[in-house]
Amino acid sequence: MEIGVQSGEILQERSDFCVLGVYEDTPLPPEVVDLLEPNDFTGKPKQTLLLYPRNAIAPRRLLLVGLGKRDAATVDSIRQAGAIGVQEAQKLHVPAVSIGIHGDSPLAPTVVAQAFAEGMELGAYRYHVYRTELTDEHSFVVEGATVYTRRGNERQVRDGIATGQIIARGVTLARDLVNGPGYTMTPERLGDEAKSLGARHGLTVTVLDEVQLADQGFGGILAVGRGSANAPRFIVMEYGSAANDRPAICLVGKGLTFDSGGLSLKPAEAMETMKSDMGGAAAVFGAMQAAAELELPLHIVGLVASAENMPSSTAYRPGDIVRTLSGKTIEVLNTDAEGRIILSDALFYAQRYHPAAIVNLATLTGAIIIALGLHAIGMMSTDQELADKMRHAGEVCLERVWQLPLWSEYREMIKSEIADIKNLGGRPAGSITAGAFLADFVGDYPLVHLDIAGTAWVDKPTKAYHTHGGTGVGVALLTEFLREYAQGAMAPTANAGRERRRSA
Ligand code: BES
Ligand code: MN
Ligand code: ZN
Repeated sequence: MEIGVQSGEILQERSDFCVLGVYEDTPLPPEVVDLLEPNDFTGKPKQTLLLYPRNAIAPRRLLLVGLGKRDAATVDSIRQAGAIGVQEAQKLHVPAVSIGIHGDSPLAPTVVAQAFAEGMELGAYRYHVYRTELTDEHSFVVEGATVYTRRGNERQVRDGIATGQIIARGVTLARDLVNGPGYTMTPERLGDEAKSLGARHGLTVTVLDEVQLADQGFGGILAVGRGSANAPRFIVMEYGSAANDRPAICLVGKGLTFDSGGLSLKPAEAMETMKSDMGGAAAVFGAMQAAAELELPLHIVGLVASAENMPSSTAYRPGDIVRTLSGKTIEVLNTDAEGRIILSDALFYAQRYHPAAIVNLATLTGAIIIALGLHAIGMMSTDQELADKMRHAGEVCLERVWQLPLWSEYREMIKSEIADIKNLGGRPAGSITAGAFLADFVGDYPLVHLDIAGTAWVDKPTKAYHTHGGTGVGVALLTEFLREYAQGAMAPTANAGRERRRSA
């Protein structure tokens, strides 16, 4: 969608479709008050009212969208207003919308513009690759939008729109990857997608196939992938370089293109959405793309461990012992706890970049849904400063994270009798023992692990900018984290991570 900027009074400009965000406690302009009954619209979050003003004001249609109370204002209500506006325009087959907020927003013009752009782009998202019966409503595309602002803010608004569109493109990429069915979105295909991402945005991409994985000792990835005809891959995507003493940030993603559970087979319903078990990998793809488009002054390495977890006569078994890339051995007790096994290789591999931070994203445990439901990302970290940065980024973009502890007691729960570690910690603290397992493979490098099992997929959306399927969660969070990191990295303390240098 083309999104432009216009300064001036939105209600005085001709347009076919005007979307006006209204705070609960800001009175409507008198010419709009005349168009409705006083109690029909209060400005509660997500409330809408479509008006046909005739000649009372310039726009032919006016969609009022509630933004809630002004001092409770968040980017989320603005994002949703953008999404609702575009969806309404799609229904009415209006190809262009103008959008703005009535009165003053407590949020900065850049922030408002970014949220509108994200909301409109993501509200228009559909996954229609496999639909053959597309009605007009399914296929109509809103081609243009204009964000209204006060004179003098045009530049900030333009910047915000550009950032919002970049993030939305990253989210769209991630959603497309997650929504792709497991039989096409194989590890090999994910490798090809990485190569084309690299070609589009100037990333250096290396994809290791099963032969190279065997030569180099990626025992974890190979074990998990062994039961499938679709062979595993390890993907390295590099943006920027270590030049100028730039510290590396490693983004690590779980890329299970389908998780049947393996021989520890999942029940049928639990398998229905398991093509989304590469949601962490998808977020890494989306964030790498966004970082490149934003030209962030950072060295970012995306690492994706990808396999398909299937039951077969060649599959790994409960009771098997796996020798990982690190040399550490894992006792496999449940083949459905496969994410931590493939990630152990990727996390160990990350150490070779002497990273200032390792950020892991994975649809790792069903237990995180029990702990936090579907509205928060579970966070575990070995470094509180890094965790605080991630938490801050989450509050800003509202992909919120909630931290769980990684105390040594949890590490005790995954000690094995016959190997270095076991892949099952029992029912209590299922998400934390998984996190503790991961932390065992990063040495002393700072790790933040994000469990996105509850947030990577949505069956029944509660947000207007979501559709059934992949959410692309993590892209906005990582992008915000990286942008803030890049700003901080300009400051003198930036290279702190480098001093932790040790050999991997
Ligand atoms: N991919 C699943 C976790 C998951 C569950 C993601 C629900 C999204 C929604 C993971 O590989 C898994 O199967 N975890 C097991 C671990 C258990 C065997 C220790 C789980 O959560 O049941
Ligand atoms: Mn599993
Ligand atoms: Zn899994």
